[in-house]
Amino acid sequence: MTVLSVIGARPQFVKAAVVSHAIRGMGIEEILVHTGQHYDERMSQVFFDELGIPRPDVNLEVGSGSHAVQTGGMMTALESLISKGKRPDWVLVYGDTNSTIAAALVAAKLHIPVAHVEAGLRSFNRRMPEEINRIVTDRLSRLLFCPTQTAVDHLASEGITEGVLMSGDVMLDATLHFAGLAAKRVPLADVTSLAAGSYHVSTVHRAENTDDPGRMAAILTALGRLSKPVLLPAHPRVRKLLGEVPANIHVREPATYLELLTLVRNADRVFTDSGGLQKEAVWLGRPCVTLRDETEWVETQAGGWNRVVGADVESIVRAELQIPEGEAPDFGRPDVGSSASTRIAQALIG
Ligand code: UD1
Repeated sequence: MTVLSVIGARPQFVKAAVVSHAIRGMGIEEILVHTGQHYDERMSQVFFDELGIPRPDVNLEVGSGSHAVQTGGMMTALESLISKGKRPDWVLVYGDTNSTIAAALVAAKLHIPVAHVEAGLRSFNRRMPEEINRIVTDRLSRLLFCPTQTAVDHLASEGITEGVLMSGDVMLDATLHFAGLAAKRVPLADVTSLAAGSYHVSTVHRAENTDDPGRMAAILTALGRLSKPVLLPAHPRVRKLLGEVPANIHVREPATYLELLTLVRNADRVFTDSGGLQKEAVWLGRPCVTLRDETEWVETQAGGWNRVVGADVESIVRAELQIPEGEAPDFGRPDVGSSASTRIAQALIG
């Protein structure tokens, strides 16, 4: 059994870290392809080093570009690679990036079955490039690994029921595993001089915020009005955009995964537009404030653990003081078995 896995952007490296380990552990041969969508050292290589991800067999080095240029470049390179090499039994894709849709389209047309990790997610906002990537990838996939029952239900409402598995969330596997490692290897003092509980963590990178000067300005104004310092590890695209920021916002280079887990676990709360970070915050028992108008991860909202406030200044500022109720929600567990990544590896074997 051979699986050709395609990754290219930061959140996919984290997911592949646990899934590659599980599939190789079960004797599956994996061909790992990096599209090169993310290429800065701190957006890519540090994840491979730190998380022990196997070295990619191929790097397509596609780099940046408009959606069509980037996706088209990946498709051309992937078609040539897959049709020339050993024919895989599966093409495995992750999440909702341009790397995901490019690989799914190429594989489907070469009649190679596609397996999609993190299937069934929907924001119902088609202005997001990620939403288009999700809808098309799910349509083309033979095996659809859903992180939550909500995702299973979304697929059912679109008439997709075959090959759908409630595999659980591989990000939960990654958070549990790597948070343990981060606690041992990355003490808080190594990443900030601030004390636990005395700061917030924020990330902003979604096009809906960064490409809209009004929303971006509102978010920075609101973060500037919070009572605590805000540590803001910034995506390279965002760093280029940021001008003067309020004095309590500490813009820094992108964090490694272990650094991020240490920062989040010790933060007062998290203000973000990232999908992954919303979940990581809640799994680590920290309240989250989501800087978007909707969330795909509705489970995180139970008890007010994740407040979805958009780019509204007053709502963001108010959320700093709102206390969630009860225990942080527990979600993302597989329907059977010990972890999402083993469930996925078993399903690929069949
Ligand atoms: C992508 C994904 C998004 C994911 C995010 C995580 C798509 C459509 N979007 O967004 O779903 O949440 O990654 O980080 O696939 N750049 C660099 N260095 C890098 C990578 C990017 O400078 O290593 C800059 C370039 O100017 C590039 C821009 O960032 O043009 C956008 O990169 P791209 O990969 O297209 O999308 P992301 O915004 O990273």
